[in-house]
Amino acid sequence: MYIDYNESLTEVMKDFKNAVDKHLDHLLPPEKTMPAKLHEAMRYSVFAGGKRIRPIITMLSCKLFSGNLEDALPVASAIELIHTYSLIHDDLPAMDNDDLRRGKPTSHKVYGEAVAILAGDALLTRAFEILAKAPKTTSIKPDVANLIIETIAGASGHLSMIGGQVMDIMSEAAAGTEKNITELVLFEIHKRKTAALIAAAAKAGAFVAKAGIRDVNLIEDFAVGLGLLFQMADDILDHTASREELGKTPGKDGAKNKLTFISLFGPDMARQKMTEFKQKTISLLEPFGEKANLLRRLTEYVASRSN
Ligand code: IPE
Ligand code: IPE
Ligand code: MG
Ligand code: MG
Ligand code: MG
Repeated sequence: MYIDYNESLTEVMKDFKNAVDKHLDHLLPPEKTMPAKLHEAMRYSVFAGGKRIRPIITMLSCKLFSGNLEDALPVASAIELIHTYSLIHDDLPAMDNDDLRRGKPTSHKVYGEAVAILAGDALLTRAFEILAKAPKTTSIKPDVANLIIETIAGASGHLSMIGGQVMDIMSEAAAGTEKNITELVLFEIHKRKTAALIAAAAKAGAFVAKAGIRDVNLIEDFAVGLGLLFQMADDILDHTASREELGKTPGKDGAKNKLTFISLFGPDMARQKMTEFKQKTISLLEPFGEKANLLRRLTEYVASRSN
């Protein structure tokens, strides 16, 4: 792995994705491990074909600050396990009630709701076990591992991802009282449910690289922007993309009366706002100069992706 900065983003993403996939395979027990249903379900969702954007961000951030990419691998992989758990639960009948994810039937469709819920729980718990063990498996020092754990727990917890998911669900009930729903509420939902974990992924990469506080803050600000942009694109794709492109059911947000970038602004304005926001986000990389070129290209990719 580990190509240099002048390589194409596509190549670097492919390289990091392969490395993360290999590492994830090593971190999860074989399918036949008892209870086999659980381990099969954990592997089913993890290896269903995600883009691995969050681990790629961890690796790119670590690389930006000249960190050890081998050390970043378990951290990046743990974040992907947390993300995958969030998707399994997001798809449950009690939540978005989706039957397609990563181009395959959702976990609860294949394994039933009980095993799907528990596979999600197990992925979340395993992620923190991996992070806690990092000082034994890598050259990450215990105090740095603690910071990483605190950052990732905060980003996936009640004030961030879980809180955002609750606000997202409550926005379904709020539909119809449109006037009271502000852009600010939507911004809070996006920030919590999606941008927080993406920012934590970037911060964790910087921590692995022992970046200074100023750099950590700069990369965090950029990655919050990137995360918001990511969810803006997700909302737009729900409205415009096909089932085949997305690997998930399109039109779900509209059907569930969710408060999204599309419901608030309509497709044309949403796209225009996203383009403006993309420029603003890219400008946050200025302090890093040329070294941030891959992150600039990643920002372009996030805004123009088709799945
Ligand atoms: C989907 O995330 C859920 C959101 C937070 C928008 P991704 O688009 O990263 O999904 P995968 O991991 O590639 O399947
Ligand atoms: C999901 O947002 C965010 C999390 C899983 C935390 P969405 O509900 O929009 O994601 P998709 O569109 O189902 O992937
Ligand atoms: Mg959802
Ligand atoms: Mg959903
Ligand atoms: Mg969505």
